[in-house]
Amino acid sequence: MTIHDLTQAKSKPPAAAPPVALFGREWLRAPLGVGAIAPSGPHLAAAMTRGLTQHSGPVIELGPGTGVFTKALLRRGIPAPQIAAIEASNGFTTALRATLPEVMIIQGDAARLRHIMPFGVGGAGTVICGLPLLSMPPGKVFRIVSGSFMALRPGGACRLFTYGPRCPISPRILDRLGLTAKRIAFTPLNMPPASVYLLRRTEEPDA
Ligand SMILES: C[S@@+](CC[C@H](N)C(=O)[O-])C[C@H]1O[C@@H](n2cnc3c(N)ncnc32)[C@H](O)[C@@H]1O
Repeated sequence: MTIHDLTQAKSKPPAAAPPVALFGREWLRAPLGVGAIAPSGPHLAAAMTRGLTQHSGPVIELGPGTGVFTKALLRRGIPAPQIAAIEASNGFTTALRATLPEVMIIQGDAARLRHIMPFGVGGAGTVICGLPLLSMPPGKVFRIVSGSFMALRPGGACRLFTYGPRCPISPRILDRLGLTAKRIAFTPLNMPPASVYLLRRTEEPDA
């Protein structure tokens, strides 16, 4: 190896970790915060975004991780500038900004959504929630769901997934916020199997 090779090797940026390796590393760093040992699979990404079109935006994604749902949203025709993703982890945020430069990637806590409002109050059409809601205290879940519906326009809806047997938003929180939850998909081929729920305002006609 010549001096030239050595300097070239030194100046090369480090290769980005593949999504599964990055996910494993972030899980080891914060197991409860990440809440899963691997990214969601393609069946769950398809179920979370089924039926969405370019008219469903703007979309706010909470907890994008390595961007499995973000990429599915792009494939459904949502333009990148119509997607804002809020991610707590610095490692995921850095990787997402490198791989999806046109998507608005915000490093922050989804529980602060009411202060972030990437598309203004009532400006979003859809919220996609990939957060580990089951490992969060009820007060935080309340702030996340209430912030989401503050961000959503009339008729807007929030989609979320869970590995548990029921909706991870308690009936108490749903009642308090005037929301209805409906299970819209079950993905046995995801590891682990997951259910997808749709949250809407109860008073809205197609709730
Ligand atoms: C179960 S992983 C899901 C990742 C991705 N949506 C997927 O399905 O592969 C949860 C993600 O939420 C992020 N997260 C956890 N708590 C958060 C919070 N309070 N605000 C924003 N992101 C958070 C984690 O860093 C992680 O990326």
